[in-house]
Amino acid sequence: MVIGILKEPQHEKRVALLPEAVVNLKKLNVEMLVESGAGNGAFVSDSEYELAGAKIENRENVIGKAEVLLRISAFTTEEMNNLRENQVVLAVLNPLMSIDLVKQLVDKSITSFSLDTIPRTSRAQAMDILSSMATVSGYRAVLDAALHLPRFFPMFMSAAGTIKPAKVLILGAGVAGLQAVATSRKLGSIVEVFDVRAAVKEEVQSLGGKFIEVEGAKDDKGAGGYAVEQSDEFKQKQRQLIHDHAVKANVVICTAQIPGRQAPILLTTDTVNSMMPGSVIIDLAASTGGNCEVTQNGKTIVSNKVTIIGKSDYPSDMPFDASKMFGNNLLNFLKLIISKEGNLNLNFDDDIVKGTCITHNKEIVNERVKQLINA
Ligand code: NAI
Repeated sequence: MVIGILKEPQHEKRVALLPEAVVNLKKLNVEMLVESGAGNGAFVSDSEYELAGAKIENRENVIGKAEVLLRISAFTTEEMNNLRENQVVLAVLNPLMSIDLVKQLVDKSITSFSLDTIPRTSRAQAMDILSSMATVSGYRAVLDAALHLPRFFPMFMSAAGTIKPAKVLILGAGVAGLQAVATSRKLGSIVEVFDVRAAVKEEVQSLGGKFIEVEGAKDDKGAGGYAVEQSDEFKQKQRQLIHDHAVKANVVICTAQIPGRQAPILLTTDTVNSMMPGSVIIDLAASTGGNCEVTQNGKTIVSNKVTIIGKSDYPSDMPFDASKMFGNNLLNFLKLIISKEGNLNLNFDDDIVKGTCITHNKEIVNERVKQLINA
């Protein structure tokens, strides 16, 4: 079987597999093609892929010859027109927000796997690209905040006087939030954390953060570890408490998301206007609307002397290690669907294969996507 790695669109610096992962994939008796320049953004040259055993081709040839295509970014309508019927694609398709793309995949009889729908189970942990990329985002968000803040993060006692440590407020304690807690603590700041899931309290505390609780959250036991939509009364209480803590913080890192929905608004314009001059807000939920009312996706703005950075693509800013993590997760998933003889072997009785497969044989396979389309 021939597997092709496609170059990402201009704005994306990561690549789906680094040469080290290509070496391991080749052990499964597959032939590897790499689109020329695919690794440039991640500082990896075509010759390094050749040394790993891949052939370098132009895009047309990769699409023309490969049965399986690997990429990070989803496909545009124009790119979809160039794919071949019955081809297999693996990418981050965000299917719950991309119904038109799902319909095109069905029409073209493409077997698609969306790596952001890999189930969040212990067995799938080694394939969990959402966790890997959230780790990068949480880390980079804190470094970005530190660079924009006109103050130190750690406490200093020097001959020039005492510097107080920065106060960081983190909204949402999923993978990105917890990494942000750890990184902020390592830089010496005081950290407070909000989340609707009380289950994360101990994790926050073990990393040295203070967990701030809002009473009366809706039970989320049936949501597979994810947050659920909360009542209006709860949201009001939460907003007030967040307001009270945000006005005393130097940095707010927003990471709260609800899968398949707009991100919850947790920081209102009024709160931003009441924050201290020079404070910094990093909104990692920007691509799904943001947790801050003032956020503009992909932009850094200054409102009332507060800097608000709306950025959901930090992994692309750390392309080497982000590609390494992404590629290792992808490799582990590919091992599940490729036989030792190098052929595609799709076992739909396996919850990881079934949960990650979006379309196959002109049908929608993923249950949540199916429900959304039927609704
Ligand atoms: P996410 O990116 O979906 O959300 C980030 C955080 O925001 C979550 O902790 C969520 O509870 C919180 N949040 C949502 N609405 C909020 C609101 N209104 N106010 C405050 N906080 C709010 O989360 P992520 O990182 O994808 O993790 C989701 C779940 O998946 C977690 O329970 C995690 O433990 C679980 N997980 C399981 C894995 C596995 O078993 N393989 C791997 C990684 C995560």
